[in-house]
Amino acid sequence: MDIEFVAAGVAVSPKAALARIVFEGEAQTGPLAAAVAASRFTGAKGQTLDVLAPSGVDAARLVLVGAGKKDAFDTIGAEHAAASAYAAVKASGLETLRIELPEGAETAAHAALGVRLASYRFDKYRTKEPADKKPSVSRTEIVVADSDAAIAAFAPLAALADGVAFTRDLVSEPANILYPAEFAARVKALESLGLEVEILGEPEMMKLGMGSLLGVGQGSIRESQLAIVKWNGGKKGDQPIAFVGKGVCFDTGGISLKPADGMEDMKWDMGGAGAVAGLMHVLAGRKAKVNAIGILGLVENMPDGNAQRPGDVVTSMSGQTIEVINTDAEGRLVLADALWYCQDRFKPKFMVDLATLTGAIIISLGNDYAGCFSNNDELAGNLLAAAGAEGEPLWRMPLPDAYNKQIDSMIADVKNTGGRPGGSITAALFLKRFVNDLPWAHLDIASTAWKKPSTVPTIPDGATGYGVRLLNRMVQDKYES
Ligand code: BES
Ligand code: MN
Ligand code: ZN
Repeated sequence: MDIEFVAAGVAVSPKAALARIVFEGEAQTGPLAAAVAASRFTGAKGQTLDVLAPSGVDAARLVLVGAGKKDAFDTIGAEHAAASAYAAVKASGLETLRIELPEGAETAAHAALGVRLASYRFDKYRTKEPADKKPSVSRTEIVVADSDAAIAAFAPLAALADGVAFTRDLVSEPANILYPAEFAARVKALESLGLEVEILGEPEMMKLGMGSLLGVGQGSIRESQLAIVKWNGGKKGDQPIAFVGKGVCFDTGGISLKPADGMEDMKWDMGGAGAVAGLMHVLAGRKAKVNAIGILGLVENMPDGNAQRPGDVVTSMSGQTIEVINTDAEGRLVLADALWYCQDRFKPKFMVDLATLTGAIIISLGNDYAGCFSNNDELAGNLLAAAGAEGEPLWRMPLPDAYNKQIDSMIADVKNTGGRPGGSITAALFLKRFVNDLPWAHLDIASTAWKKPSTVPTIPDGATGYGVRLLNRMVQDKYES
């Protein structure tokens, strides 16, 4: 999508669609008043009214886009309104969309972000789609008085959109294409942005004693990988911040095999690692003034003659032994070693992990909220504030010590399942046993990594890229020098 910021006076192409953002109750004049009167359009959020352009408007068509109450309009409102405008005309056959909205460079920049996010599409495997079914709009003009200010305001948001698209691409890829080594290679390619990337294979992880992560990948012919991504945008020697992602490229459940129905969704089980990769992409793209580490635990969980069995005991890098009661509770086994490695090697200020960890978080919070578990109120507060500001809903969950007994093992230090009650909480308590005395938060994004159908105009159906925006915002607001 080409984005351009244009002054109001610049002639609009007669082949463009013109979208005008209007607020609830805002009166229209002339022929538009008649069109509105003949419809149910009130200017409520998300409404659109598509009319033939009245005489005097040099465009093929005109779309009124409702933006809700004027005093509640904010940058997210601008994104959503612009995204709704795009949705209304994307298949119109027209190539250009021009958006008129309330004045301000920041508003214009967020409208551009809204269109970028809404026009994301994963279509590389569609070989027979007729041209008249493909989106036609490839260029968006945003009307703004100070285009230089809008361009400047959009630069970091364009980096954000690029990072979100990178995450969505990774999450959308099928597991026969995106297996651990391929994921690692795509992350390695980000060195062109200025990131430093190290990849560890199974022999290196064996040497480090990562028996927990390696046990998960042991039934797969695809080699497990650990990707270590560094962004050094801060002062030399400044303690880094760190993000850790669950990257189960496919989760069959292993020997504790999942039912066939819906198993295809488990290609998305690398959404946490995908979000961390996307975040690092954004930090590099906008040259964030921070030192940040991303650790991706990349495995495939398969049933096989060599797969780990229920009841196996593995030794993690921390030295703690784990009884694997259910091979389908594999994400926590991957994270146990990835988290330990991260704190051991980098001594970060804090660690935030992201993981499509439990079905139970969907039962707890539904399809919009991710769960936040943390040993530190300040870090949790920063995450929740950033999530609110970016429109990525997040809810704090408890970490009661008393539930720890649910994961005590009869024969090892810990077991990898705690039963059905509080399944997301016992999963988080399991992770906590691999975190020393540093601020840590775990985001269970099983509920938000993908959406079908989506309910937000800036998120197309499928991979959402959830987490990239909120983490980027938190870094920007709280941790850049
Ligand atoms: N990847 C799944 C969690 C998941 C389930 C994500 C549904 C998205 C949608 C995870 O590895 C898993 O299988 N968790 C089990 C844990 C259980 C065996 C303790 C679960 O949630 O059922
Ligand atoms: Mn699983
Ligand atoms: Zn999983």
